[in-house]
Amino acid sequence: QDELKQAVGDAAAQYLLPHLEERTIVGVGTGSTANCFIDALARHKHLFDGTVASSEASAQRLREHGIPVYDLNAVDSIDYYIDGADEINHRLEMIKGGGAALTREKIVAAVARHFICIADQSKLVDTLGSFPLPVEVIPMARSHVAREIVKLGGDPVYRDGVITDNGGQILDVYNLRIDAAITLEKQLNQITGVITNGLFAMRPANTLLLGTDEGVKTLT
Ligand code: A5P
Repeated sequence: QDELKQAVGDAAAQYLLPHLEERTIVGVGTGSTANCFIDALARHKHLFDGTVASSEASAQRLREHGIPVYDLNAVDSIDYYIDGADEINHRLEMIKGGGAALTREKIVAAVARHFICIADQSKLVDTLGSFPLPVEVIPMARSHVAREIVKLGGDPVYRDGVITDNGGQILDVYNLRIDAAITLEKQLNQITGVITNGLFAMRPANTLLLGTDEGVKTLT
């Protein structure tokens, strides 16, 4: 699986190459697959301006490679956002946030014109929900949000000890079979105290680079 992650990280850098210009800002995601992309992107750092990162961890890795990292408020637009996923379906809707970076990931994805998801074949599913859905909450609202999630049919579990880059906490919601992802994404975000949830259905990926035993496949 590590080889498949590196293959899609390399493929994403190759995909970007014709689009990199002096002023290009690249959005960069979080996780082990995104790390493979960062390492591949570093080989082309002289071709573009810099990046916006979806986590402190990715920002640090980018800087270690000598790649500039900008505050999102300092850039006008982002053409491409490259990030992994915990699950992705054939509509390119995703569950993200296994690495607790879901809110910043969703913000950078919202700004980007084109979202390229990079994933190994184990992430592609018919129905989202086997992977517990992360929900980031304001800490004082955690129990309230958990009770509301139970009413929606989920089993929330507090990810003890994890504080996000935004000072939030994470509830991982088990036993959801997600047939209507957009509806659930909106319902969860309407619970008072939720910062955001890890469903990326209102803003799915535009392109999936999927690492398989037969090579990297491109799905749109
Ligand atoms: C981070 O919060 C997540 O959304 C990641 O994109 C996701 O967990 C994928 O991570 P891996 O590439 O490590 O599987």
